Amino acid sequence: MAEAGASRPRPRVFVARLIPDDGLAPVVEACEARVWEGELPPPRDELLRAVEGCDGILTLLTDRVDDELLDRAGPGLKVVSNFAVGFDNVDVDACTRRGIAVGNTPGVLTETTADLAWALLMAAARRVAEGDRYVRAGRWKTWGPMLLMGPDVHGATLGIVGLGRIGQAVARRAMGFGMTILYYDTRPADPSIEGELGATFVPLDDLLARADFVSLHVNLTEETRHLVNAARLRSMNSDAILVNTSRGPVVDQKALFEALRDGAIGAAALDVTDPEPIAADDPLLSLDNCLVVPHIASASRATRGKMAAMAAANLLAGVRGERLPTPVNPEVYEGYEGR
Ligand code: DGY
Repeated sequence: MAEAGASRPRPRVFVARLIPDDGLAPVVEACEARVWEGELPPPRDELLRAVEGCDGILTLLTDRVDDELLDRAGPGLKVVSNFAVGFDNVDVDACTRRGIAVGNTPGVLTETTADLAWALLMAAARRVAEGDRYVRAGRWKTWGPMLLMGPDVHGATLGIVGLGRIGQAVARRAMGFGMTILYYDTRPADPSIEGELGATFVPLDDLLARADFVSLHVNLTEETRHLVNAARLRSMNSDAILVNTSRGPVVDQKALFEALRDGAIGAAALDVTDPEPIAADDPLLSLDNCLVVPHIASASRATRGKMAAMAAANLLAGVRGERLPTPVNPEVYEGYEGR
């Protein structure tokens, strides 16, 4: 039996990468924390070893959390805190079955992610990356009346697939550009949201056929995997620009390559690819009408700090047996209701 007044052991946690101090400092202060300091994610076998006996783990979207990992962590694991709003790397059902709370970081990255979606949309339309490559290659000889022309953004039609928090933030930016805003989601948004954004709900196939720009803002699920497939790409207008800041597998990437190569659509701008990272010799990267950045939509200093603080708050609440501030699977708490 523990002696009266003996201090309780600090919770054991594994933090799967260096994160901003806003989150790391409170975790290190409160826990016996092992932090993976590599630039690359822990290799699977290291990750499995590192989680053994942990009360909590702070994971990134590069770390797969599944039954195998949960078995290795053992029965003491109380919380998986994912440093992202997306959680497709976590088998949430497996966690729920074991009563393990899963946390994510919603809300704090909405505007920053919408900023990057907008930057990609603008850059692809106005051929910013191509222009930069052109200048650096010494190809800029004179002002050209038809040099690097692209479509106008203002006044064009934007199709938003997934009108959640980030989709809405993208729509608000589009309002400033006088765009017609169409959206598709599993169900129409509240009329007050539609009214505020001037956004019209249409079936996905109508949206794809009518939009000059299509921006994807859905979670990756079995239903949304390859949502944008070969047939849908071919149904888009041939100047259309596809922007993806959601998850790479939402788009069939081989079909996207073929559509871009054949001029079935105008251009694509991707923050996410399938797989990540995309191989340097992937055929997509040989195309001038494809712009790719390395999954940086939430990468403003302020936002990454807030994500770190939120992930730490979830982790610490979880190891203390408290309700997470932002649980993905609140059903783990149902048994405790009313006590
Ligand atoms: C997320 O949070 O899901 C993003 O993809 C990374 O910030």
